[in-house]
Amino acid sequence: MEKLEAALAKAREQRKSALANEEAVRERVPHQGKPLGWSVLPEIKLSQGSMTRHRITALLGGKDATPYDMLRSRTIRLLREKGWSRLAITSPGAACGKSTIALNLAVSLARQRDLKVMLIDLDLRRPSLHKLLDQNPPNSFHEVLAGKVSFEEHARRIGDNLVVAMNGTASRNPAELLQSASTREFLDEIERRWQPDVMLFDMSPMLASDDNVGFLGNVDCALLIAAAESTTLANIDICEKELAQLTNVLGVVLNKCRYADDSVGYGYGHYG
Ligand SMILES: Nc1ncnc2c1ncn2[C@@H]1O[C@H](COP(=O)(O)OP(=O)(O)OP(=O)(O)O)[C@@H](O)[C@H]1O
Ligand SMILES: [Mg+2]
Repeated sequence: MEKLEAALAKAREQRKSALANEEAVRERVPHQGKPLGWSVLPEIKLSQGSMTRHRITALLGGKDATPYDMLRSRTIRLLREKGWSRLAITSPGAACGKSTIALNLAVSLARQRDLKVMLIDLDLRRPSLHKLLDQNPPNSFHEVLAGKVSFEEHARRIGDNLVVAMNGTASRNPAELLQSASTREFLDEIERRWQPDVMLFDMSPMLASDDNVGFLGNVDCALLIAAAESTTLANIDICEKELAQLTNVLGVVLNKCRYADDSVGYGYGHYG
C-alpha cells in the first residue's frame, strides 16, 4: 500500500514538474502556447426553473446550496493543502447522483469568483451533463478526445469562471479513449492552456465497466457517491478499496438520504 501511494505521489510529481518545465519554456518563448482567456468560449445561460427541476440547487447560494457549499469548502481546503486540481466523481452503481453532485459542486465552486472551474463529462457510455444543462451540443467531448474537434470549438462557458465539456452522444470506444496516452497528454494540454484551478470529472459507475480504471491515474483524487437505501455497504467497500489503489479517495458522500438532518439537506458518509 505504501509503495502504491509512493508510486501515485511520484506520478503526480512527474506530471506537475512536466507542466512546470513547459511553463518555463513558454516564458522564454512568450507567444508560444499563451494561456487562453475563457471569454473566447461561447456562453450558455442557465434557467433557474430548469436547474431547480434537475436538482441543481447550488446556483444561487442560500440554504439549498448549503450541502454543496460545505462539500466545496472541504474540497478546496484539501486541494489547496495537497496542491491538487483534478477530482473525479464516481459511484459503485448507476444513478447514485454523480452528475447532479458534480454539477452542483461545479456551480458552488464557481460562485467563488477567484476560482476557475472546469466540469468535464467523462461518462462516455451514458453521458448526461448536457441533459442537466438542457443543451443539445453540436459535438461531443469524446470527439475532442479523438482529435476530431478542438476544445475551443467544443467547450461552453457558464458565467466567467465555469467551463463545461459535454457529450451529446455516447462514445463507441469509451475504455480505449479514457485509457489512452493521448487523453492523458490532452488533459495536460488543457491544464496548460486554460489554467483551471479545479477540474471536475463526472465519471461512469465503477461496477458497470472498467472504463475508469485506466483513467483514474490522471486525477489527483476522487469522491465516491453512494445512494442511501440502494448502494450496499459491500459495494461501497469494494469500490473504495479499488479507488484507493488508483488515486486518493477524498471521501464517500451518502446521497439521497431521506433521513438527513433538515439543516443540511443530505447526509455525508465520511470525508477527508
Ligand atoms: N439527493 C437526491 N435526492 C433525490 N434524488 C436525487 C438526488 N440526487 C440525484 N437525484 C436524482 O437521481 C437520478 C440520478 O441522478 P444522476 O443522473 O445525477 O446520477 P448518476 O449517478 O450520475 O447516474 P448515472 O450512473 O446514470 O450517470 C436523477 O433523477 C436525479 O435527479
Ligand atoms: Mg451521471
